Amino acid sequence: MKVINLNQTSMVSHVTKQVFQNRKTEAPLSMNVCQDTGKLLKLNSVKTGDYRQHHQIQTVNIAIFGTGNVGGTLIDQIMESGKSIEESKRIRLNIFAVGNSQKLLLGKSGMNENWRAHLEEYGKHYDVWDIITYAQVHRLDNLIAVDNTASEEFIENYQALVKNGFDLVSSNKTGNAGSYEFYQSLRQILRKTGREYLYEANVGAGLPLIDTIRLLHISGDKIHRIQGVFSGSLSYIFNNFSSRDIPFHQVLSEAAAHGLTEPDPREDLSGKDVSRKLLILARELGICQEYEFIENRNLIPEDLGKQNLDYFLNNLQNLDSHFEAIKQRVKPGHVLRHIGELSIHRKNSQVQLKAGLSEVPENSALGQLSGSDSLFEIYTEGYGTNPIIIRGAGAGATVTARGVFGDILRLADRVKKEKVM
Ligand SMILES: NC(=O)c1ccc[n+]([C@@H]2O[C@H](COP(=O)([O-])OP(=O)(O)OC[C@H]3O[C@@H](n4cnc5c(N)ncnc54)[C@H](OP(=O)(O)O)[C@@H]3O)[C@@H](O)[C@H]2O)c1
Repeated sequence: MKVINLNQTSMVSHVTKQVFQNRKTEAPLSMNVCQDTGKLLKLNSVKTGDYRQHHQIQTVNIAIFGTGNVGGTLIDQIMESGKSIEESKRIRLNIFAVGNSQKLLLGKSGMNENWRAHLEEYGKHYDVWDIITYAQVHRLDNLIAVDNTASEEFIENYQALVKNGFDLVSSNKTGNAGSYEFYQSLRQILRKTGREYLYEANVGAGLPLIDTIRLLHISGDKIHRIQGVFSGSLSYIFNNFSSRDIPFHQVLSEAAAHGLTEPDPREDLSGKDVSRKLLILARELGICQEYEFIENRNLIPEDLGKQNLDYFLNNLQNLDSHFEAIKQRVKPGHVLRHIGELSIHRKNSQVQLKAGLSEVPENSALGQLSGSDSLFEIYTEGYGTNPIIIRGAGAGATVTARGVFGDILRLADRVKKEKVM
């Protein structure tokens, strides 16, 4: 059994990213084939040039959308690590735009530690063209747009950003879990423009899950099942609700206070968040399904699902009797876990995607989960009956922002390599 345990997730621990949108900038092979002295001299001078280029600092210009738990933490992380990255990698991460749902702050030379106050004080209403135009007017290149919103509206900006020179990095699942038509048309534009779209934090927060699955799939190993606790917030909620004698609303409030839940916790409890993750993984495996295909058991009583968010948040105790009744029915020696499962029938290739609450033996791997850990078991033909297991913190602003940061660094590394070539 291969276990990747990443309780202390770091971007360094990511499996090497498969660059799935190769740019057409690779140096032709013939550059290395020198048949006379003239050409040899040329090659030597290229090498000297390479060395200089390698040590030259490349600036990557970043626009960050969403300044909440994940977005705010990411900006702080970039500020904290900026200097050391500049020294070690010769890459300057310049955040030239920061926007939330109301305001945008622009600055071609980058933000400083007071960005929150500056956004509040000097931020202006905006749309995506303000950022695109600003980048063009100030001749900013190596552009990355980072989506740390949970907004279904914001993803409508992706195509304009890509067409105008931005690579994309996103923690927002809605970009990959919306209609298949949107999914495909974005990829078409990415292919045409040679831009990239990275979203490791879409599933498993900072855990290297999408990478691993993509590499297994591309390498030809057939994945026939992925199952586990897909949601760090539901992990926290049911690990605690099962092991402690406290009302459900208290556990839910704790999870929200730790920044583990979605902005609207019903996205978690309804199973919508896990269903989106299942769909994203399925699409990575080439399965062209829509959201409606997923068999999802919604955990929210119908009447509470329909209320507005404020009402729902102010009346969380209305959930208590519903979940207490579920807990009372659990068999002795078992605990509640929210499980997602993707399975592909080996003979007829039929696909099933399921999400819901189950009871599992408390001494099983899933039963022993703690904190807000996620756990993914990946069964493949190559690994036989022993699944690859990826386990670690599956939610929380710090680890999620680390996952997003990792994707930014991959793109920045590629920019650096291209400039040297
Ligand atoms: N928290 C986690 O553990 C976790 C784990 C994995 C993935 N994620 C994903 O990370 C993303 C961010 O989560 P979060 O916890 O940071 O949420 P959050 O704290 O609610 O922050 C969301 C941010 O997005 C901004 N926003 C909303 N609509 C926008 C729009 N149309 N244009 C620009 N900005 C907009 C909000 O602006 P205002 O400040 O003006 O409201 C806010 O700053 C979500 O997609 C979530 O699914 C989170």
